[in-house]
Amino acid sequence: MTGMDSSAAAPSDPREPRGADPRTDPAGTGDPAPGAQGTPAHPHRSGRPGEPLVVLEGVQKHFGDLHVLRDIDLTVGAGEVVVVIGPSGSGKSTLCRAINRLETIESGTITVDGRPLPAEGKALAALRADVGMVFQSFNLFAHKTILDNVTLGPIKVRGVGKTEARERAMALLDRVGVAHQASKYPAQLSGGQQQRVAIARSLAMDPKVMLFDEPTSALDPEMINEVLDVMTSLADSGMTMIVVTHEMGFARRAADRVVFMADGQIVEQAAPEEFFTHPRSERARDFLGKILTH
Ligand SMILES: Nc1ncnc2c1ncn2[C@@H]1O[C@H](COP(=O)(O)OP(=O)(O)OP(=O)(O)O)[C@@H](O)[C@H]1O
Ligand SMILES: [Mg+2]
Repeated sequence: MTGMDSSAAAPSDPREPRGADPRTDPAGTGDPAPGAQGTPAHPHRSGRPGEPLVVLEGVQKHFGDLHVLRDIDLTVGAGEVVVVIGPSGSGKSTLCRAINRLETIESGTITVDGRPLPAEGKALAALRADVGMVFQSFNLFAHKTILDNVTLGPIKVRGVGKTEARERAMALLDRVGVAHQASKYPAQLSGGQQQRVAIARSLAMDPKVMLFDEPTSALDPEMINEVLDVMTSLADSGMTMIVVTHEMGFARRAADRVVFMADGQIVEQAAPEEFFTHPRSERARDFLGKILTH
C-alpha cells in the first residue's frame, strides 16, 4: 500500500536497545521488562527523561481556505505520553502528519530532538527513522510475510544484516505477541494482530518517538485491548508517544497528559484525571459529554 512508504519504509537506527526480549505480561499491566533480563527500566533512548523531544512552536497550516492548524505550541518531553483528543476535523491527524513531515507547514517550527524537520532527502529519511508512525489502517505489505514486513526497513534502508534484522524482528514480534505468526502473510492475521505487527515494524526502526493515529479505531471491539495493551507496555517502557485516540481507558492508564484540540487549536491540556473530571472549556465539556455517553 502506498501509505506505508512514509513510515514503514522509513530508515532508522537499527539498534534495538534491549539486550534480550523484554516481553511484558500480555495484559500490559505489569512493569515492563526491567529486571527479568537485566534490561534497564526505560530502554528506549530518547533523550533524558523530561527533556523536550518534540517541540512545535507557532505552527500554522491551511488546506485551501481551511485553517487546520492554528498557532500550535506543543512540547512533548522525552518519555512522555501525550494523548490527543478532539472532534472530527479538529486537526489531530494533520498534527501527527506534520510532525512526521507527511504534511508541510506554512509557518512556525517543529523540532525533533533539537533538530528542525528537514525538507527532503536523506535528512528527511533520517527524521522519519526517528519518528515512528502507526495509522488506523495497518499498511503492511500484503505480499510479504510478517517477518519480512518487519525486517524490510532495517535491511533496505539501514543496511542491517539479514540475520541481525531477523533476530531483532523476532524479538519484537514476540514482544507484541505474534512471533508464532512470523511466516504468515498479513491477510492471514486478525486486524489486532496486524496492528501489533505494524507496531513491531515501527519499533524495528528504533524510533525516538512514536506517533499513533487512532490505531484501534478500525478494529473489532475484542481486538482493541490487545493493541492497547501493547501500547501501554510501550509507554511503561519509556517510549515517547503521541497518541490520537478516543480510548479513554488508555488515556487514563497510560497518558501523562491529554491535549484537547478543536478547530485546529489546542484548547486545553491537562493530566488525564484532571481533564476528564474537570474539563475547563465548554468545548471540552461538550465533547466529553458526547463521547462518554456513547
Ligand atoms: N489533504 C487534505 N486536503 C484538504 N483538506 C484536508 C486534507 N486533510 C485533511 N483535511 C481537512 O483538514 C481538517 C482537519 O483534518 P484532520 O484529518 O487533521 O482532522 P482529525 O482531527 O484527524 O479528524 P478525525 O477525528 O475525523 O480523524 C478537516 O476539515 C479535513 O477535512
Ligand atoms: Mg484523524
